[in-house]
Amino acid sequence: MSTMLVTGIGELTTWDDERPVRSDAAVVLDDGVVTWTGDSRDAPDADERLDVDGAAVIPGFVDSHTHLMFAGDRADEFAARMAGESYTAGGIQRTVRATRVASDDELLAHARRLLAELRAQGTTTVEIKSGYGLTVDDETRSLRLARTLTPETTFLGAHVVPDEYADDRDAYLDLVTGPMLDACAPHARWIDVFCDRGAFTVEESRRVLEAGIARGLGARLHGAQLGPSAAVELAVSLGAASVDHASFLSDRDVELLAGSSTVATLLPGAEFSTRQPYPSGRRLLDAGVTIALATDCNPGTSFTTSMPFCLALAVREMGLTVPEALRAATLGGAAALRRDDVGHLRPGATGGLVVLDAPSAVHLAYRPGVSLVQRIVGGTAPA
Ligand code: NIG
Ligand code: FE
Repeated sequence: MSTMLVTGIGELTTWDDERPVRSDAAVVLDDGVVTWTGDSRDAPDADERLDVDGAAVIPGFVDSHTHLMFAGDRADEFAARMAGESYTAGGIQRTVRATRVASDDELLAHARRLLAELRAQGTTTVEIKSGYGLTVDDETRSLRLARTLTPETTFLGAHVVPDEYADDRDAYLDLVTGPMLDACAPHARWIDVFCDRGAFTVEESRRVLEAGIARGLGARLHGAQLGPSAAVELAVSLGAASVDHASFLSDRDVELLAGSSTVATLLPGAEFSTRQPYPSGRRLLDAGVTIALATDCNPGTSFTTSMPFCLALAVREMGLTVPEALRAATLGGAAALRRDDVGHLRPGATGGLVVLDAPSAVHLAYRPGVSLVQRIVGGTAPA
Protein backbone atom coordinates (compact mmCIF):
# COMPACT_ATOMS: atom_id res chain seq x y z
CA MET A 1 0.00 0.00 0.00
CA SER A 2 1.33 3.44 -0.85
CA THR A 3 -0.38 6.76 -0.24
CA MET A 4 0.06 9.95 -2.21
CA LEU A 5 -0.94 13.51 -1.33
CA VAL A 6 -1.64 15.85 -4.24
CA THR A 7 -1.68 19.36 -2.84
CA GLY A 8 -1.62 23.00 -3.94
CA ILE A 9 -4.63 22.42 -6.22
CA GLY A 10 -5.97 25.81 -7.33
CA GLU A 11 -9.35 24.44 -8.42
CA LEU A 12 -10.43 20.88 -7.62
CA THR A 13 -13.49 19.33 -9.26
CA THR A 14 -14.65 16.32 -7.24
CA TRP A 15 -18.41 16.35 -8.01
CA ASP A 16 -18.90 15.91 -4.29
CA ASP A 17 -22.58 16.63 -3.52
CA GLU A 18 -21.87 19.42 -1.04
CA ARG A 19 -18.79 21.05 -2.60
CA PRO A 20 -18.50 19.87 -6.22
CA VAL A 21 -15.67 22.34 -6.88
CA ARG A 22 -13.29 23.76 -4.26
CA SER A 23 -10.21 25.96 -4.26
CA ASP A 24 -6.83 25.57 -2.50
CA ALA A 25 -7.49 21.87 -2.17
CA ALA A 26 -5.76 18.52 -1.82
CA VAL A 27 -6.46 14.87 -2.59
CA VAL A 28 -5.08 11.70 -1.02
CA LEU A 29 -4.88 8.48 -3.01
CA ASP A 30 -4.13 5.04 -1.68
CA ASP A 31 -2.79 2.73 -4.37
CA GLY A 32 -4.42 4.95 -6.96
CA VAL A 33 -7.85 5.12 -5.28
CA VAL A 34 -9.06 8.42 -3.76
CA THR A 35 -9.42 8.22 0.02
CA TRP A 36 -9.67 11.88 1.03
CA THR A 37 -10.32 15.34 -0.47
CA GLY A 38 -10.42 18.68 1.32
CA ASP A 39 -8.61 21.95 2.00
CA SER A 40 -4.82 21.86 1.54
CA ARG A 41 -4.30 23.02 5.11
CA ASP A 42 -6.23 20.02 6.53
CA ALA A 43 -4.48 17.40 4.42
CA PRO A 44 -3.17 14.31 6.22
CA ASP A 45 0.38 13.00 5.73
CA ALA A 46 1.14 10.53 2.98
CA ASP A 47 4.09 8.44 1.74
CA GLU A 48 4.57 10.71 -1.26
CA ARG A 49 3.65 14.33 -1.89
CA LEU A 50 3.03 16.22 -5.14
CA ASP A 51 2.54 20.00 -5.12
CA VAL A 52 0.78 21.08 -8.33
CA ASP A 53 1.35 24.77 -7.74
CA GLY A 54 -2.15 26.16 -8.26
CA ALA A 55 -3.13 23.95 -11.20
CA ALA A 56 -6.72 22.84 -11.79
CA VAL A 57 -7.45 19.15 -11.18
CA ILE A 58 -10.38 17.22 -12.67
CA PRO A 59 -11.51 13.59 -12.63
CA GLY A 60 -10.21 11.50 -15.56
CA PHE A 61 -12.61 11.69 -18.51
CA VAL A 62 -14.93 8.73 -19.10
CA ASP A 63 -15.20 8.13 -22.85
CA SER A 64 -18.28 5.91 -22.96
CA HIS A 65 -18.46 5.52 -26.75
CA THR A 66 -15.54 4.59 -29.04
CA HIS A 67 -14.94 2.26 -31.96
CA LEU A 68 -11.18 1.75 -31.50
CA MET A 69 -10.97 -1.73 -33.05
CA PHE A 70 -10.52 -1.02 -36.74
CA ALA A 71 -7.94 -0.68 -39.50
CA GLY A 72 -7.54 1.91 -42.25
CA ASP A 73 -8.86 5.46 -42.52
CA ARG A 74 -11.49 7.24 -44.61
CA ALA A 75 -9.99 10.69 -44.91
CA ASP A 76 -11.21 10.86 -48.51
CA GLU A 77 -14.84 10.61 -47.31
CA PHE A 78 -14.26 13.42 -44.82
CA ALA A 79 -12.75 15.57 -47.58
CA ALA A 80 -15.71 14.81 -49.85
CA ARG A 81 -18.16 15.81 -47.11
CA MET A 82 -16.36 19.08 -46.60
CA ALA A 83 -16.89 19.59 -50.34
CA GLY A 84 -20.65 19.04 -50.00
CA GLU A 85 -21.27 15.26 -49.92
CA SER A 86 -23.40 13.85 -47.13
CA TYR A 87 -22.59 11.00 -44.77
CA THR A 88 -24.06 7.56 -45.39
CA ALA A 89 -23.70 4.42 -43.28
CA GLY A 90 -22.38 2.62 -46.40
CA GLY A 91 -18.79 3.74 -45.72
CA ILE A 92 -18.69 1.29 -42.81
CA GLN A 93 -18.19 -1.54 -45.34
CA ARG A 94 -14.81 -0.07 -46.34
CA THR A 95 -13.56 -0.20 -42.79
CA VAL A 96 -14.93 -3.74 -42.47
CA ARG A 97 -12.85 -4.81 -45.47
CA ALA A 98 -9.68 -3.21 -44.05
CA THR A 99 -10.30 -4.63 -40.57
CA ARG A 100 -10.86 -8.19 -41.79
CA VAL A 101 -7.46 -8.35 -43.50
CA ALA A 102 -5.53 -6.82 -40.58
CA SER A 103 -3.65 -9.18 -38.27
CA ASP A 104 -4.39 -9.38 -34.55
CA ASP A 105 -1.09 -7.64 -33.86
CA GLU A 106 -1.90 -4.80 -36.25
CA LEU A 107 -5.39 -4.29 -34.83
CA LEU A 108 -4.18 -4.29 -31.26
CA ALA A 109 -1.21 -2.02 -31.96
CA HIS A 110 -3.51 0.47 -33.70
CA ALA A 111 -6.02 0.43 -30.85
CA ARG A 112 -3.21 0.89 -28.34
CA ARG A 113 -1.96 3.94 -30.26
CA LEU A 114 -5.43 5.48 -30.18
CA LEU A 115 -5.78 4.63 -26.50
CA ALA A 116 -2.48 6.39 -25.79
CA GLU A 117 -3.87 9.45 -27.59
CA LEU A 118 -7.06 9.32 -25.50
CA ARG A 119 -5.07 9.07 -22.31
CA ALA A 120 -2.74 11.90 -23.29
CA GLN A 121 -5.86 14.06 -23.42
CA GLY A 122 -7.14 13.05 -20.02
CA THR A 123 -9.31 10.00 -20.62
CA THR A 124 -8.81 7.25 -18.04
CA THR A 125 -11.90 5.08 -18.64
CA VAL A 126 -12.88 3.98 -22.12
CA GLU A 127 -15.55 1.85 -23.75
CA ILE A 128 -14.60 0.02 -26.97
CA LYS A 129 -17.02 -1.45 -29.50
CA SER A 130 -16.61 -4.16 -32.11
CA GLY A 131 -18.57 -3.65 -35.31
CA TYR A 132 -15.98 -3.63 -38.09
CA GLY A 133 -15.58 -7.41 -38.31
CA LEU A 134 -19.15 -8.59 -38.96
CA THR A 135 -18.23 -12.29 -39.12
CA VAL A 136 -18.30 -14.57 -36.09
CA ASP A 137 -14.50 -14.78 -36.04
CA ASP A 138 -13.80 -11.11 -36.75
CA GLU A 139 -16.27 -9.81 -34.18
CA THR A 140 -15.01 -12.26 -31.58
CA ARG A 141 -11.38 -11.29 -32.06
CA SER A 142 -12.19 -7.58 -31.96
CA LEU A 143 -13.82 -8.07 -28.57
CA ARG A 144 -11.16 -10.46 -27.32
CA LEU A 145 -8.48 -7.88 -28.17
CA ALA A 146 -10.53 -4.96 -26.81
CA ARG A 147 -10.94 -6.84 -23.52
CA THR A 148 -7.19 -6.70 -23.04
CA LEU A 149 -7.54 -2.89 -23.00
CA THR A 150 -10.76 -2.27 -21.03
CA PRO A 151 -13.54 -4.13 -19.23
CA GLU A 152 -16.07 -1.88 -21.02
CA THR A 153 -16.44 -3.82 -24.26
CA THR A 154 -19.49 -3.68 -26.50
CA PHE A 155 -20.69 -6.18 -29.10
CA LEU A 156 -21.81 -4.25 -32.21
CA GLY A 157 -22.28 -7.09 -34.71
CA ALA A 158 -25.39 -5.17 -35.79
CA HIS A 159 -23.45 -2.17 -37.08
CA VAL A 160 -24.64 -2.67 -40.68
CA VAL A 161 -25.62 -5.69 -42.76
CA PRO A 162 -22.31 -6.70 -44.39
CA ASP A 163 -22.16 -6.78 -48.20
CA GLU A 164 -22.20 -10.57 -48.41
CA TYR A 165 -25.64 -10.62 -46.72
CA ALA A 166 -27.07 -7.71 -48.71
CA ASP A 167 -29.76 -9.93 -50.24
CA ASP A 168 -30.66 -11.70 -47.02
CA ARG A 169 -30.68 -9.40 -44.02
CA ASP A 170 -32.78 -11.84 -42.00
CA ALA A 171 -30.03 -14.43 -42.31
CA TYR A 172 -27.54 -11.86 -40.98
CA LEU A 173 -29.84 -11.06 -38.06
CA ASP A 174 -30.10 -14.80 -37.32
CA LEU A 175 -26.30 -14.93 -37.26
CA VAL A 176 -25.93 -11.84 -35.03
CA THR A 177 -28.55 -13.00 -32.53
CA GLY A 178 -27.38 -16.64 -32.66
CA PRO A 179 -23.86 -17.95 -33.24
CA MET A 180 -22.18 -14.52 -33.29
CA LEU A 181 -23.75 -13.50 -29.99
CA ASP A 182 -22.82 -16.89 -28.48
CA ALA A 183 -19.19 -16.39 -29.46
CA CYS A 184 -19.00 -12.70 -28.51
CA ALA A 185 -20.98 -12.54 -25.26
CA PRO A 186 -18.15 -13.95 -23.11
CA HIS A 187 -15.93 -11.03 -24.19
CA ALA A 188 -18.52 -8.26 -23.90
CA ARG A 189 -20.33 -6.32 -21.19
CA TRP A 190 -22.69 -4.49 -23.55
CA ILE A 191 -24.67 -4.98 -26.74
CA ASP A 192 -25.24 -2.14 -29.21
CA VAL A 193 -27.03 -1.73 -32.55
CA PHE A 194 -26.95 1.02 -35.16
CA CYS A 195 -30.68 1.83 -35.36
CA ASP A 196 -30.88 4.29 -38.24
CA ARG A 197 -31.35 4.87 -41.94
CA GLY A 198 -29.04 2.55 -43.92
CA ALA A 199 -28.45 0.31 -40.90
CA PHE A 200 -31.17 -1.46 -38.84
CA THR A 201 -34.87 -0.75 -38.35
CA VAL A 202 -36.40 -0.29 -34.92
CA GLU A 203 -37.92 -3.78 -35.00
CA GLU A 204 -34.62 -5.36 -36.09
CA SER A 205 -32.84 -3.39 -33.38
CA ARG A 206 -35.30 -4.61 -30.77
CA ARG A 207 -34.58 -8.20 -31.80
CA VAL A 208 -30.81 -7.67 -31.48
CA LEU A 209 -30.98 -5.93 -28.11
CA GLU A 210 -33.45 -8.41 -26.64
CA ALA A 211 -31.18 -11.29 -27.65
CA GLY A 212 -28.24 -9.58 -25.96
CA ILE A 213 -30.20 -8.80 -22.81
CA ALA A 214 -31.29 -12.45 -22.63
CA ARG A 215 -27.57 -13.35 -22.67
CA GLY A 216 -26.90 -11.03 -19.74
CA LEU A 217 -25.46 -8.07 -21.69
CA GLY A 218 -26.45 -4.48 -20.94
CA ALA A 219 -28.16 -2.60 -23.78
CA ARG A 220 -27.06 0.65 -25.42
CA LEU A 221 -27.70 1.87 -28.93
CA HIS A 222 -26.82 4.26 -31.70
CA GLY A 223 -30.07 6.09 -32.36
CA ALA A 224 -31.51 9.18 -34.04
CA GLN A 225 -28.12 10.07 -35.57
CA LEU A 226 -29.23 10.53 -39.16
CA GLY A 227 -32.89 11.41 -38.69
CA PRO A 228 -35.88 11.17 -36.33
CA SER A 229 -36.85 7.63 -35.36
CA ALA A 230 -38.43 5.52 -32.63
CA ALA A 231 -34.96 4.54 -31.39
CA VAL A 232 -35.28 6.54 -28.18
CA GLU A 233 -38.60 4.91 -27.38
CA LEU A 234 -36.97 1.52 -27.94
CA ALA A 235 -33.99 2.42 -25.73
CA VAL A 236 -36.20 3.59 -22.89
CA SER A 237 -38.59 0.64 -23.15
CA LEU A 238 -35.67 -1.79 -22.88
CA GLY A 239 -34.02 0.09 -20.00
CA ALA A 240 -30.92 0.73 -22.14
CA ALA A 241 -28.03 2.39 -20.32
CA SER A 242 -27.69 4.96 -23.08
CA VAL A 243 -28.92 6.15 -26.44
CA ASP A 244 -26.03 7.63 -28.35
CA HIS A 245 -25.96 10.49 -30.87
CA ALA A 246 -29.59 11.46 -30.02
CA SER A 247 -29.27 14.19 -32.62
CA PHE A 248 -32.86 14.26 -33.88
CA LEU A 249 -35.21 14.16 -30.89
CA SER A 250 -38.92 14.92 -30.67
CA ASP A 251 -40.40 16.56 -27.56
CA ARG A 252 -41.84 13.16 -26.68
CA ASP A 253 -38.33 11.58 -26.93
CA VAL A 254 -36.98 14.19 -24.53
CA GLU A 255 -39.85 13.57 -22.13
CA LEU A 256 -39.30 9.81 -22.27
CA LEU A 257 -35.58 10.21 -21.59
CA ALA A 258 -36.23 12.58 -18.70
CA GLY A 259 -38.48 10.01 -17.04
CA SER A 260 -35.98 7.18 -17.48
CA SER A 261 -32.52 6.08 -16.39
CA THR A 262 -31.33 6.04 -20.02
CA VAL A 263 -28.51 8.51 -20.59
CA ALA A 264 -28.42 10.59 -23.79
CA THR A 265 -24.83 10.45 -25.02
CA LEU A 266 -23.91 13.43 -27.19
CA LEU A 267 -21.15 12.94 -29.77
CA PRO A 268 -20.34 16.39 -31.16
CA GLY A 269 -17.28 15.06 -33.01
CA ALA A 270 -19.72 13.29 -35.32
CA GLU A 271 -21.68 16.46 -36.07
CA PHE A 272 -18.39 18.27 -36.64
CA SER A 273 -17.13 15.66 -39.06
CA THR A 274 -20.38 15.07 -40.95
CA ARG A 275 -21.44 18.73 -41.06
CA GLN A 276 -24.78 17.86 -39.49
CA PRO A 277 -26.53 20.29 -37.16
CA TYR A 278 -25.55 19.95 -33.51
CA PRO A 279 -28.38 18.85 -31.20
CA SER A 280 -29.08 21.03 -28.18
CA GLY A 281 -27.61 19.75 -24.95
CA ARG A 282 -29.34 22.68 -23.21
CA ARG A 283 -32.77 21.36 -24.20
CA LEU A 284 -31.93 17.97 -22.67
CA LEU A 285 -30.52 19.35 -19.43
CA ASP A 286 -33.43 21.76 -19.03
CA ALA A 287 -35.82 18.82 -19.34
CA GLY A 288 -33.93 16.86 -16.67
CA VAL A 289 -32.22 14.31 -18.96
CA THR A 290 -28.86 12.89 -17.85
CA ILE A 291 -26.35 13.52 -20.62
CA ALA A 292 -22.90 12.16 -21.40
CA LEU A 293 -20.27 13.42 -23.80
CA ALA A 294 -18.04 11.00 -25.71
CA THR A 295 -15.69 11.07 -28.70
CA ASP A 296 -17.31 8.30 -30.85
CA CYS A 297 -13.73 7.79 -32.12
CA ASN A 298 -14.13 5.96 -35.44
CA PRO A 299 -12.71 6.36 -38.95
CA GLY A 300 -16.04 7.33 -40.57
CA THR A 301 -17.79 10.03 -38.61
CA SER A 302 -15.49 11.22 -35.82
CA PHE A 303 -11.81 10.43 -35.99
CA THR A 304 -10.87 12.26 -32.82
CA THR A 305 -9.53 10.91 -29.52
CA SER A 306 -9.86 14.24 -27.75
CA MET A 307 -12.44 14.66 -25.01
CA PRO A 308 -11.36 18.30 -24.53
CA PHE A 309 -12.17 18.94 -28.22
CA CYS A 310 -15.62 17.38 -27.77
CA LEU A 311 -16.13 19.34 -24.57
CA ALA A 312 -15.26 22.60 -26.34
CA LEU A 313 -17.70 21.79 -29.15
CA ALA A 314 -20.44 20.99 -26.64
CA VAL A 315 -19.91 24.35 -24.96
CA ARG A 316 -19.76 26.33 -28.18
CA GLU A 317 -22.36 24.47 -30.24
CA MET A 318 -24.69 22.61 -27.88
CA GLY A 319 -25.50 25.33 -25.38
CA LEU A 320 -23.74 23.86 -22.36
CA THR A 321 -21.78 25.77 -19.75
CA VAL A 322 -18.23 24.53 -19.12
CA PRO A 323 -19.12 22.83 -15.81
CA GLU A 324 -22.10 21.13 -17.46
CA ALA A 325 -19.93 19.85 -20.30
CA LEU A 326 -17.21 18.72 -17.90
CA ARG A 327 -19.80 16.90 -15.83
CA ALA A 328 -21.16 15.18 -18.95
CA ALA A 329 -17.63 14.11 -19.97
CA THR A 330 -16.91 12.60 -16.57
CA LEU A 331 -19.92 11.74 -14.36
CA GLY A 332 -22.22 11.53 -17.38
CA GLY A 333 -19.96 8.98 -19.08
CA ALA A 334 -19.86 7.00 -15.85
CA ALA A 335 -23.68 7.00 -15.72
CA ALA A 336 -23.79 5.82 -19.33
CA LEU A 337 -21.59 2.88 -18.31
CA ARG A 338 -23.51 2.41 -15.06
CA ARG A 339 -20.31 2.89 -13.08
CA ASP A 340 -20.15 4.70 -9.77
CA ASP A 341 -16.38 4.40 -9.21
CA VAL A 342 -15.23 6.68 -12.05
CA GLY A 343 -15.99 10.18 -13.35
CA HIS A 344 -15.61 11.83 -9.92
CA LEU A 345 -13.00 12.29 -7.19
CA ARG A 346 -15.00 11.34 -4.13
CA PRO A 347 -13.54 8.71 -1.79
CA GLY A 348 -13.55 5.38 -3.62
CA ALA A 349 -12.87 6.90 -7.05
CA THR A 350 -10.74 4.58 -9.19
CA GLY A 351 -10.47 6.68 -12.37
CA GLY A 352 -7.50 8.81 -11.38
CA LEU A 353 -7.15 12.56 -11.59
CA VAL A 354 -5.94 14.86 -14.31
CA VAL A 355 -3.66 17.79 -13.46
CA LEU A 356 -4.27 20.52 -16.04
CA ASP A 357 -1.74 22.98 -17.34
CA ALA A 358 -4.27 25.66 -16.42
CA PRO A 359 -5.68 27.41 -13.35
CA SER A 360 -9.29 26.39 -14.06
CA ALA A 361 -11.26 23.80 -16.01
CA VAL A 362 -12.78 26.63 -18.06
CA HIS A 363 -9.51 26.57 -20.02
CA LEU A 364 -10.57 23.23 -21.54
CA ALA A 365 -13.03 25.15 -23.73
CA TYR A 366 -11.44 28.59 -23.52
CA ARG A 367 -8.22 27.25 -25.12
CA PRO A 368 -9.61 24.87 -27.75
CA GLY A 369 -7.13 22.67 -29.57
CA VAL A 370 -4.44 23.21 -26.94
CA SER A 371 -3.16 20.19 -25.05
CA LEU A 372 -3.66 21.02 -21.38
CA VAL A 373 -3.03 17.69 -19.68
CA GLN A 374 0.03 18.07 -17.46
CA ARG A 375 -0.13 14.64 -15.86
CA ILE A 376 -2.47 11.88 -14.73
CA VAL A 377 -2.20 10.65 -11.15
CA GLY A 378 -3.69 7.48 -9.68
CA GLY A 379 -6.42 5.35 -11.13
CA THR A 380 -6.61 1.61 -11.28
CA ALA A 381 -8.29 1.15 -14.66
CA PRO A 382 -6.31 -0.62 -17.41
CA ALA A 383 -6.93 2.26 -19.84
O1 NIG B 1 -21.15 6.17 -34.34
N1 NIG B 1 -23.26 5.40 -36.44
C1 NIG B 1 -22.68 4.36 -36.48
N2 NIG B 1 -21.38 4.14 -36.30
C2 NIG B 1 -20.39 5.15 -36.30
C3 NIG B 1 -19.94 5.50 -37.68
C4 NIG B 1 -19.33 4.35 -38.35
C5 NIG B 1 -18.59 4.65 -39.62
O2 NIG B 1 -19.02 5.46 -40.46
O3 NIG B 1 -17.56 3.97 -39.77
C6 NIG B 1 -20.87 6.36 -35.52
O4 NIG B 1 -21.00 7.47 -36.03
FE1 FE C 1 -20.56 5.32 -32.71
